Amino acid sequence: PATTLQDIIAHAKEYGFVFPSSEIYDGLQAVYDYGQNGVELKNNLKNAWWKAMTQLNDNIVGIDAAIFMHPLTWKASGHVDGFNDPMIDNKDSKKRYRADQLLEGKAEVLTNEGKKDEAQALLNKMGQLLGAEDLEGVKNLIIEEGIVCPVSGTSNWTDVRQFNLMFSTQVGSVAEDSNTIYLRPETAQGIFVNFLNVQKSGRMKIPFGIAQIGKAFRNEIVARQFTFRMREFEQMEMQFFVRPGSEMEWYETWKENRLSFHKAIGLPTESLQYHDHEKLAHYANAAVDIEYKFPFGFREIEGIHSRTDFDLRNHQELSKKKQQYFDPEVNPETGKPFGNYIPFVVETSVGADRLFLATFCNAFTKEMVGEGDKQKERTYLKLHPALAPIKAAVLPLVKKDGLAEIAEEITNSLKPYFRAVYDDSGAIGKRYTRQDLIGTPYCIAVDYETKDDNCVTIRHRDSMEQERVPIAELKDRIGKEVAV
Ligand code: GAP
Repeated sequence: PATTLQDIIAHAKEYGFVFPSSEIYDGLQAVYDYGQNGVELKNNLKNAWWKAMTQLNDNIVGIDAAIFMHPLTWKASGHVDGFNDPMIDNKDSKKRYRADQLLEGKAEVLTNEGKKDEAQALLNKMGQLLGAEDLEGVKNLIIEEGIVCPVSGTSNWTDVRQFNLMFSTQVGSVAEDSNTIYLRPETAQGIFVNFLNVQKSGRMKIPFGIAQIGKAFRNEIVARQFTFRMREFEQMEMQFFVRPGSEMEWYETWKENRLSFHKAIGLPTESLQYHDHEKLAHYANAAVDIEYKFPFGFREIEGIHSRTDFDLRNHQELSKKKQQYFDPEVNPETGKPFGNYIPFVVETSVGADRLFLATFCNAFTKEMVGEGDKQKERTYLKLHPALAPIKAAVLPLVKKDGLAEIAEEITNSLKPYFRAVYDDSGAIGKRYTRQDLIGTPYCIAVDYETKDDNCVTIRHRDSMEQERVPIAELKDRIGKEVAV
């Protein structure tokens, strides 16, 4: 049977990858904690991204900006006025819904019933209404379409209202409007406001990029699908500053580059697709999503947006500080330097938690092994070795006769280079299974022959094949495979 999201959630919890936040108090909706294995996998993903951006590109540097920013930032970015979702409450069930998602849900049902035309017509109408902010129209559409509340089966709805997704809080001790600040809903703005700081201090020449990994917060109303849509999450964003007019070229370059990244960390080609945006966000002149095939369908993991000079221009206007770059290169058309301009920006933005979920879903494998009566089901995580929380487990066949000491010594010799653990508890088969379940690519068995030949047996996770390898070669053999 196909893997369900429930299988994924259960495995993630049982093996220390993801726990519901504050679980002893029954959890907090759409907030999650990463456990001992989850944090390693997530860190490995973040490191892979950081390296792909800042180490493999001469012209991309990183920053780590604060979560709190001056409130005008969010005015300039358009989030104060435009970062809204249309909400509707069901008066009977007291449940709150995103109006657009209710309608999309209905469209999905129609599509599944083979009524594609009807679904399309509904989506078109909804697009028009939401675009025009005719919220009364949206409400009528919901009622007309007979979208019923799953709890009470009635259609007693409130008006549709716009609901801002930013979390706010107060600076200092006086609760006044002027003290209101927001938890950043995207990391991008920390990069925009530091554009000139980095450009000047790093003597960066356009085109160049600034990368950042950090937390972002959104008061998502419909928080579903595990770590796919969270209220507190992590983004990995890169803003690439380019000469106006060259943005479409860079947009295409980054679109391809980012898809290659996802393939390189092990997501299969057939589980990835592009999805071009028909409706563009307020800041973009072109946008595409990279989608991954989750158990609940193809969904966005990364967005690539051509943001024009929208952000820098607005920051210039509100801050009254020039956000210009002097480009000394000679324009072949005029014979003069390109001179001063506000750069255009191509952004790549991927959610670390969504990438984590995609990687985890992709790795989760159940298969039948053995023949005839001895056939049994095996579950393991087929993670890319560079992403696995533990790279090697060193297992003495038995504890006695000096095998434990040899195994411990091997573990200690590998630890400085990659994560290696020692395990001597239970039958060796059980220990292999334990490592399979968390995705450890290599198990190293120490047996009696080791004492004579200074060799160990490496057991490969996916094929379960075993090979004899000299202890002295372990570091290089495994080290090569697990490099990010
Ligand atoms: N700076 C552009 C920006 O923030 P976005 O499409 O709103 O664009 C980018 O978000 C990425 O951040 C998404 O592709 C997704 O991976 C991640 N993301 C957004 N909201 C999220 C949420 N509520 N939970 C988890 N990840 C989220």
